[in-house]
Amino acid sequence: MQINYNEQNRVFKIDTEHTSYCIGIVDEENFVGHIYYGRKLSDDNLVYLMRTGEPPFVPSKNNRDRTSFLDTFPMEYTGHGLGDFREGTLMVRTAGGHSGVSLSYVSHRIYDGKEELAGLPATFGMADTCRTLELTCEDKVLGLQVILSYSIFADNDAIARSVRVVNGGKEALYLTKVLSACIDMDNEEYEMITLPGSWARERIIQTRPVLKGKQGVSSVRGESSHQEHPFMAWKRKTTTEEAGDIYAMNFVYSGNFMAQIEGDQSGSMRALMGIHPQDFCWKLEPGDAFQAPEVICVYSAEGIGGMSRTFHDLYRRHLIRGEYKDKKRPILINNWEATYFDFDTDKLLAIAREASALGIEMLVMDDGWFGCRNDDNSSLGDWQVNEEKLKGGLKYLVDEVNKLGMKFGIWLEPEMVSPDSNLYREHPDWAFAIPGRTGSLSRNQYVLDLTRQEVRDCVYDMIASVLRSANIEYVKWDMNRQLSDMGSCGLPADRQGELFHRQVLAVYELQDRLTREFPHLLLENCSGGGARFDPGMLYYSPQIWCSDDTDAVERLSIQAGTAMVYPLSTMGAHVSDCPNHALGRTTPFETRGYVALAGTFGYELDVTKIPEADRAMIPEQTAMYHKYNDLVREGDYYRIAHYAENHYYDCYEVVAKDKSEALVTYVQVLNRPSHHSRRIRIPGLDLTAVYVIENAQDWPEIGQTEYRGDALQFAGINVPPLWGDFKGRLLHLVRKQAM
Ligand code: DGJ
Repeated sequence: MQINYNEQNRVFKIDTEHTSYCIGIVDEENFVGHIYYGRKLSDDNLVYLMRTGEPPFVPSKNNRDRTSFLDTFPMEYTGHGLGDFREGTLMVRTAGGHSGVSLSYVSHRIYDGKEELAGLPATFGMADTCRTLELTCEDKVLGLQVILSYSIFADNDAIARSVRVVNGGKEALYLTKVLSACIDMDNEEYEMITLPGSWARERIIQTRPVLKGKQGVSSVRGESSHQEHPFMAWKRKTTTEEAGDIYAMNFVYSGNFMAQIEGDQSGSMRALMGIHPQDFCWKLEPGDAFQAPEVICVYSAEGIGGMSRTFHDLYRRHLIRGEYKDKKRPILINNWEATYFDFDTDKLLAIAREASALGIEMLVMDDGWFGCRNDDNSSLGDWQVNEEKLKGGLKYLVDEVNKLGMKFGIWLEPEMVSPDSNLYREHPDWAFAIPGRTGSLSRNQYVLDLTRQEVRDCVYDMIASVLRSANIEYVKWDMNRQLSDMGSCGLPADRQGELFHRQVLAVYELQDRLTREFPHLLLENCSGGGARFDPGMLYYSPQIWCSDDTDAVERLSIQAGTAMVYPLSTMGAHVSDCPNHALGRTTPFETRGYVALAGTFGYELDVTKIPEADRAMIPEQTAMYHKYNDLVREGDYYRIAHYAENHYYDCYEVVAKDKSEALVTYVQVLNRPSHHSRRIRIPGLDLTAVYVIENAQDWPEIGQTEYRGDALQFAGINVPPLWGDFKGRLLHLVRKQAM
């Protein structure tokens, strides 16, 4: 890991263990240009790649065609309005209404460690494991400084980028667009990968060619969203799971975003990521700074899988915090799909009693315990226990659950208010609203204006006093609608364009406060399933509810898309009852267990009501969780086959970092008449070692119990067909000790 500046060539070279990223300062105007990103290089004399000797030439040689230069030069971070007609990163409006920006390099700083981003989630690193380059650029006319930061880590190949904009002038400026990262490069017929979806179908892998023109994903819903995801990758057509070039960007942010690749006239492309400029306008008074959130850039020569493993390691080591960062999470049972709103103390205790006897470790009481909430039409904002439902109060229930040897967790939705609530009746102006317009309801609720300190304080006090009142060790923080009607009584007219971003900052502040006051709390974020599954939320909670779709087959796609970027340790995954509540599909209880083992693992069913045969499997499943979770949480993840592509079976693997063991999950989604078994290669192993399939008795048809690592990886094993649909198996490979 090193960052060097070659003064003679005016080239910055950022080196991680396997990658290099090069930036050049060009011409008398000190344009900051992007030179190279990819495999690690030994040479830093790369200015020849900047095409300064080719028409349209740099402005000092040929100012006659300045716009042509600006419109083709590979910018590290762009200006606007002066001749670069591609989509840019920064737009600034002056008090006079003008909007040109041009950035030139002024100075730089290279230092050990990484500074926090004020008020924002971000990756972290210590002085001995992390290094940062800060490039300060300036627009002299505006008196504006733009500081571009690049941080790298000793144990990871990612680069964390962010941008700070400072108004060093004498007049207020309006930032109308501040993206966080830009990469200009030649388009070598790349293909773009994104993760679009919908409710109950989040993060489905989509691949398309990078063409001329603009293509990308975005959210203007006030959250990262079910529909799109703040991630994009671009790869060569020949890149596979295991080999080939791939580049990616992931946004450490939970609100509106844009992620776009623009193919331009000359065969180059520009990749951009940052806060979506729609409805964004941030007033910057003289001396004020605006911090744009972080983008994680990854390059891997080891294919899509190599990219995923880089993100997983980065987030496990340098983003996720708190007591549960590296710890096994308690196996929970959540009453949502078991009871919905129809529960009371007796019902919950009956579930807890049965669950504890089966090895389940925590009861989570979901929506409906407060105010008069017996359906989703009321009471959000009234965070007082409904003692008609919870006879004896919350503390009594929690104590009784604790007596069973179980922990207790609770559901909250602090960002929302129901029109039918005491809070709304007392403070109707605390919900976002546009004067003169009837508010748009969604799930019969409004969004609280958390940009106002008094609203934040009131909500925090209410939820904190619930948490202080009993031994609550887990919170599921939900958020069940998108943001609309963005008007606030708390801000003047020329700051209404700050609301979307301020609301996200407010949520971060609340979660920061919560995790500081309750450092032992296990926080799980959720948003109508997985609409806010992003690195921003992972900074506050080590796990996020992946999707409201708990069907094991659908989960194969949802979890594969999620695990493209996020470690398995972060994916909330539960075994639920059948027919599945989202789809009506019935899958075997074993398969539901195998699929949920790839995440945080828990149950979402009424354990007192499920078939006896299913219930009898729970002790074995919970034992499997304890046996395999260290491996699943900490190991290297490999996608082997994806049902969405082959329409037949799904297979993935987790290998221990020291390659001493591996767990392969195989799910045959649909059975097909087949003339023989199917060949599956098992990657990531110690090639010279012998592995034993420790649970070979579960699938004797596989054949041998001992295999060489190279045979497993390059030749594979023959997997026999399973009788019936939705059938699954686990294979646990253990490296045999040398005699
Ligand atoms: C949406 C969540 O995703 C569900 O798991 C459940 O908590 C409901 N909200 C409760 O309203």
